[in-house]
Amino acid sequence: MEYVWIFGATGDLSRKKLLPALARLMAEGRELIVVGVGRKQVRHSVFRTYVAQTCEQVCGVHLDGLLERLYYVRMDFEPLDQPEDPGTLRAQADLLALKMELEATYGPATRSLFVLATMPEYFAKVAGAIKRSGIAYEPGSALLLEKPFGYDLESAIAFNEGVREHFEEKSIFRIDHYLGKAMLRSLFTLRFSNAIFDAVWCKDYIEEVRIVALETIGIEGRGAYYDQAGALRDMAQNHMLQMAALVAMEAPEILRPEAVRTSKIKAMSQMKLDPEQCRFGQYVASEGTKGFLEEEGIPPQSTTETFAELTLELDAPRWRGVPFKLVTGKRLSEKRTAIEIQMKATKLAGQLGAQIAPNLIEIKVQPEEGVQIRFNVLEPGAEAVVVERELDYCQNCLIGERSPEAYEKLLLDALNDDLTLFTSWGEIEQAWKLMDPLVNYIRNNPDQLLRYEAGCNETLTWKPEAGHPETQIMKEGEANETL
Ligand code: BG6
Repeated sequence: MEYVWIFGATGDLSRKKLLPALARLMAEGRELIVVGVGRKQVRHSVFRTYVAQTCEQVCGVHLDGLLERLYYVRMDFEPLDQPEDPGTLRAQADLLALKMELEATYGPATRSLFVLATMPEYFAKVAGAIKRSGIAYEPGSALLLEKPFGYDLESAIAFNEGVREHFEEKSIFRIDHYLGKAMLRSLFTLRFSNAIFDAVWCKDYIEEVRIVALETIGIEGRGAYYDQAGALRDMAQNHMLQMAALVAMEAPEILRPEAVRTSKIKAMSQMKLDPEQCRFGQYVASEGTKGFLEEEGIPPQSTTETFAELTLELDAPRWRGVPFKLVTGKRLSEKRTAIEIQMKATKLAGQLGAQIAPNLIEIKVQPEEGVQIRFNVLEPGAEAVVVERELDYCQNCLIGERSPEAYEKLLLDALNDDLTLFTSWGEIEQAWKLMDPLVNYIRNNPDQLLRYEAGCNETLTWKPEAGHPETQIMKEGEANETL
């Protein structure tokens, strides 16, 4: 029997992502026992009712399987670093007692996941309590850590050292849920199993790489967290850099998690970011939508960025001179994540037609999942007119296709002890090395923060006619106004 323990079980992440993913895995036949661990003192039945009510809309599956095997233990995370604290001793004893009771009913644990959906300050404390309580053993146990993994390099190192006192690196699964998204998982195969992509994946053919993760939502009641994090720590340090690493990495020596991670770390160590080449924005109020400064928990003078456009360069033979543009922001006009590979113009392009657009390979991550390639052909007819056409593979349009949610895939991989889609410490370290100077720059230069209207009808456009793609955020009727 496999056991999943969620620490921080009454929080947002658990409710919105983890429990629904577990419910789906169980509905598909995975035999699991799920234990929620949280600060509140409630009985199993009360926790089940809470989960039934809160998950109903998001789960999309019958919850019966999950509810039948759902349990709860109370634990206060704060004093866990004091092993002699009576509350800590009691909570640890409660964990063990429940484990023994469950094993007597369902059989011994063949695999145990300990998912820490808590603030990173608690990672080491909770990891220590798990070990001391006797509910974990290695191999067979995995510690799953949610982002944020620290607030900067220094804190990340401290959190990592704290966790490593209790768990070995090979049992630590650091979650970046973007790596569980179907098309990002597919990117590796798309690139390395197709000569038509692999052969042109370099500076000789690629003009620019654009990675966008645009959101329409605001900060969703997470004011205190977001004001401290901003777009740089919330999205760029993790999801955006991970996507950039997947595009930029060299083929690993061998298809093993360790080799894939080594290749990504190398790519990240070659990335360079100049703060002065980046743009930062903050949304202001517009009709019917609050501005960032009016959101609950945000100080009126806050200069936290809710939008970032970063230009990365790679000091690597494959990529020298190719800009990687990473764009992410809240309260934009669309929810869209994509990787756009803009190809170079060919030698004859200018002679074949004045309007010849360079090829574009777009890997659509969400909401649509698929790949689109744009290329030029002659329009049928007497005139030799060159027109742009597209080949489109829409993965989630296929009847009967349902890509598993990212968390479903990641939890499944952790149950199967597969670290490939999880972030290693080396990647986290490199990501903070890149992000710290940017965070410091924008915090120290608030005058560099541009303003954009929340929920306004901005259009993120390519301008291929200008030779170089260029991003602009335009308001309707103000087409020349940049962010
Ligand atoms: C999370 C961020 O990691 O990713 C959120 O904390 C963001 O602020 C979310 O909204 C975006 O994830 P997705 O899967 O909706 O693109």
